[in-house]
Amino acid sequence: MQRHIILSGFMGSGKSTVGRILSRRLSLPFHDVDDVIEKQTGMKIMDIFSQHSEAYFRELETRVLRDILATPPSVIATGGGTLMEPENLTLSKQQGVLFYLSASAKTLHERVRHSQHRPLVKKHSSLEAFARLLEARIPFYKKCDYIIDADNMSPDEVATYIQEIL
Ligand code: S3P
Repeated sequence: MQRHIILSGFMGSGKSTVGRILSRRLSLPFHDVDDVIEKQTGMKIMDIFSQHSEAYFRELETRVLRDILATPPSVIATGGGTLMEPENLTLSKQQGVLFYLSASAKTLHERVRHSQHRPLVKKHSSLEAFARLLEARIPFYKKCDYIIDADNMSPDEVATYIQEIL
């Protein structure tokens, strides 16, 4: 039975870009957890954090992921914090194969530091704070089935690498 292909990793690791490429190449549906949340709520992630709270966002994230996992096999781009919730990690492992797109704090920070739509970049704006958040999350990301050192790879190359593993 084909399973979901689930992409995980910190902000800026290329989950959504790689996910779109893979979905096209494999002719599988593509779901981006953040996009589904924004579509369902009619709100931007930034506004969900500021007008509600991060905790509220995490509830939405868990619900949306559960709904996506119940659909036929697809490529899923999670948010950078999705797998920090133990329930999400357990369910994802049951329903799919998990890839951690790993990159250095410096590379990731360079990619997203000017992002206007990531509340946690605003909150952890210096490289040091950004790197601390990444460090705290690495043990969770490492629970993925496969770790891909994507630091010096293009999204196309990462997608090809994943296809070779599948
Ligand atoms: C978050 C990452 C974001 C988004 C939200 C929280 C996080 O997704 O889900 O801003 O906790 O790391 P990306 O990883 O796609 O930027």
